[in-house]
Amino acid sequence: MATQLVVALLALTSLGAASELDCKELVKPLVLDSHSPIYGKWVLNVGSWDQPDLKKDLATVNSSWVELSSSSDSGVMTIYWADRLNDDKCLQGIANATISGMTTHTTFIINGHTSYHDGKYYETCADCLLSEDTTLLPDGQSKGRYIFLFTRTGKLDPAELETFKKQAECLKFLPEYHFGGTDLCPDDREANTTTTPASTKETATPSSK
Ligand SMILES: *[C@@H]1O[C@H](CO)[C@@H](O)[C@H](O)[C@H]1NC(C)=O
Ligand SMILES: *[C@@H]1O[C@H](CO)[C@@H](O)[C@H](O)[C@H]1NC(C)=O
Ligand SMILES: *[C@@H]1O[C@H](CO)[C@@H](O)[C@H](O)[C@H]1NC(C)=O
Repeated sequence: MATQLVVALLALTSLGAASELDCKELVKPLVLDSHSPIYGKWVLNVGSWDQPDLKKDLATVNSSWVELSSSSDSGVMTIYWADRLNDDKCLQGIANATISGMTTHTTFIINGHTSYHDGKYYETCADCLLSEDTTLLPDGQSKGRYIFLFTRTGKLDPAELETFKKQAECLKFLPEYHFGGTDLCPDDREANTTTTPASTKETATPSSK
């Protein structure tokens, strides 16, 4: 009995030691203001989730980019997003995020469906954006969380990926990952504001089927 207890305790302590991460050091939320290093265009490198159910939605995303811009209202930022899905369809849109302290709150309307998201951003590598996204159901309950690491180019050093995995572990995400590709959707805003006829533009723009 006593031996078993000691063995069990030893196993517990060595497990603890093996997975001991300095999470205080690894996970530092950003206070959001117009000087936060979150603005500009970002390409998704890797994402993870905290509920097995959330995997299938992210798995349909072949590539993703976002552009965060501050607005004239310091409490609001604009999020432009563009996802290429596995069926090679591009979805893109724009949303306003209200900022309060370390959290953003955003309503996305995608294909007529409304979803609510709370966002949090963390310190990360240079030229990286680490964001945590909580999807809220209409009753305000959390459906689960994603964590996304974006970079300016979509590329990431292996060492930076390892740090991301530790940060995700600290934040209690599953040790499963989905990687974004670099075949990005073209920016519809550019296509729409250009005065040249559509036929001279990239013909790769997917039809809105
Ligand atoms: C994206 O789609 C291309 C072509 O269908 C495929 O080769 C590639 O593996 C996909 N990438 C991801 C991240 O799903
Ligand atoms: C974002 O806010 C601006 C200013 O209030 C408004 O003009 C615009 O329509 C909003 N955009 C969306 C997508 O809600
Ligand atoms: C750009 O034009 C396409 C095709 O007319 C349209 O589906 C899309 O919503 C437009 N995008 C923006 C950002 O206005």
